[in-house]
Amino acid sequence: MPGMGNSLRAAALLAFVVLSILVSLLISSVQQFGATGSHFSKATLPGDEEKLASLRGALIYQLNERRKEIIPLLLPEDGDENGLSEEARHSSQAQDPILDYNLWNEITLGSRKAHLDEMGCDSLVGMQAVEILGSGYTKLVVKVNLAGGQPVALKLVNEQGIDMGKCLEDFKDPQGCRELVSSKLQKEIVLLQRLKHPNVIKLKGHCAGGQGGREGGGGGGEGGRVTVILEQGNPLQMIQLLQSPWEDRFRVCLDLVRLLHFLSQSPLGSVALLDFQPRQFVTVSGELKLTDLDDASAEETACQSDTDCTLEFPHRNFTLPCSARGVCEGLNEKRNIYNAYRYFFTYLLPHQAPPGLTHLVDHIMNSTGELKADINQTLEAFERILLLYQSGLHLDNLPPSVVKDYTVMRGMGTSGNVEYRCWPSYSQQGCVLSVHCAKEAAYICNSHSQCNSFTLTGQKTWTGRLLASFRSSFSHLVPDGTSEVYVKKTKALETPPV
Ligand SMILES: Nc1ncnc2c1ncn2[C@@H]1O[C@H](COP(=O)(O)OP(=O)(O)O)[C@@H](O)[C@H]1O
Ligand SMILES: *[C@@H]1O[C@H](CO)[C@@H](O)[C@H](O)[C@H]1NC(C)=O
Ligand SMILES: *[C@@H]1O[C@H](CO)[C@@H](O)[C@H](O)[C@H]1NC(C)=O
Ligand SMILES: *[C@@H]1O[C@H](CO)[C@@H](O)[C@H](O)[C@H]1NC(C)=O
Ligand SMILES: [Mg+2]
Repeated sequence: MPGMGNSLRAAALLAFVVLSILVSLLISSVQQFGATGSHFSKATLPGDEEKLASLRGALIYQLNERRKEIIPLLLPEDGDENGLSEEARHSSQAQDPILDYNLWNEITLGSRKAHLDEMGCDSLVGMQAVEILGSGYTKLVVKVNLAGGQPVALKLVNEQGIDMGKCLEDFKDPQGCRELVSSKLQKEIVLLQRLKHPNVIKLKGHCAGGQGGREGGGGGGEGGRVTVILEQGNPLQMIQLLQSPWEDRFRVCLDLVRLLHFLSQSPLGSVALLDFQPRQFVTVSGELKLTDLDDASAEETACQSDTDCTLEFPHRNFTLPCSARGVCEGLNEKRNIYNAYRYFFTYLLPHQAPPGLTHLVDHIMNSTGELKADINQTLEAFERILLLYQSGLHLDNLPPSVVKDYTVMRGMGTSGNVEYRCWPSYSQQGCVLSVHCAKEAAYICNSHSQCNSFTLTGQKTWTGRLLASFRSSFSHLVPDGTSEVYVKKTKALETPPV
């Protein structure tokens, strides 16, 4: 390829090698589907045996701890709409863990009848890996096209990740560690099944290695390998988002608030996202979706007095009330709200907010930054902004006369355009902005010294606002049923006749 530097070529080669390894890993995990799991075996020196046995014991203990975390999240039997009762949650912790493994096997072996409609290992046969979408401490995510052409994202254990590295250091047992780290994927599968929402990434299925292997899930063997099949998204790029129109940035914040509203009264109770960072989210067609759920927690904090209920953040501490029930009231919900404020709202919301909406945006910034509003009130405030923005009510004080300065030609577009750039534009080449109506576009055109005409293109943004294209001049009018051309009256004579 011309112009491709050596370093770029090296990077491409490296990416190819990594992908090839991945594909072979994936294929081998698919091949294990249906095959009998090989038994755990390990060559040991006689002197090391005792030490290894105690390490092994410690690892199994860890695995059991992880399982205990997942069991209470499992789907209750059909008909129980409200999830596990308080009582069931407690008894599952006290129960003999052996009993719990029956439930456990249902997810590790994917045998629950409710999930028969999901994709399994067989749907991965013949897939093509495209590229790596991302990786974190625990997981690696690969962009894949399935044999039928369907694009999906696959989540696997990140063999190079911090979790795996720490485990290997502690236990020196690659297979056992893979299994331990896989338990986070398993927890995520269960959470994705329990927390279905438009702003949570869609689980398409999973492939659990070890099918046909030993019964009982006692640890070791091939039982560890888990691949989660997800809807494909684009990792959230804050830098890119900061350069996007306010409308798109507002969308991300609104989606986040809708998600937090759902999480505050989810089937599992009020859920806190303990690792709340932009990198735990992706977008799918502009819509925000949570993808990293393994650090979600529905646990409540027990307390005796308010001082037991403090939320600590780097620049701010809050104390919440301890309820009569002896739990910190709304702690999970408030933790989420403040994280939304500090990681998302402060960067995305105030900057270039539409003039008629700034007071509402400022109010949200203050009430979330001070934790004065709960998630219901916050959602209401966001939905109100959306409504005003969509209905154009925030434009009421624009003089209606501005549009009279323009001659309108319906069913026309332009060619031979002389464009100018504006910011933040929906198009790189010219100045394309969203408007509620011709009046708002006329107002914008009047405020740009280079602007002499604009076109309402008929294309719409996610809120239903119109995309308007602003320009200095054009040479021809061309028939275009979906658009309208507006030309400044004083300048109209300067444009050549059709
Ligand atoms: N469905 C997906 N589509 C596209 N990218 C994804 C998807 N899920 C995750 N990613 C990317 O992969 C990265 C790692 O996934 P994540 O679940 O956060 O792993 P970890 O638990 O190790 O942090 C994320 O930061 C995100 O950028
Ligand atoms: C928050 O509380 C911690 C622990 O009590 C304290 O060390 C820290 O200084 C406090 N931070 C702020 C900003 O008040
Ligand atoms: C909220 O408003 C009060 C009063 O104007 C101000 O002192 C405070 O700093 C604001 N807080 C945030 C987080 O914006
Ligand atoms: C929040 O709204 C939900 C309904 O959407 C309602 O069930 C719940 O009681 C409300 N919570 C508060 C604190 O008002
Ligand atoms: Mg992550």
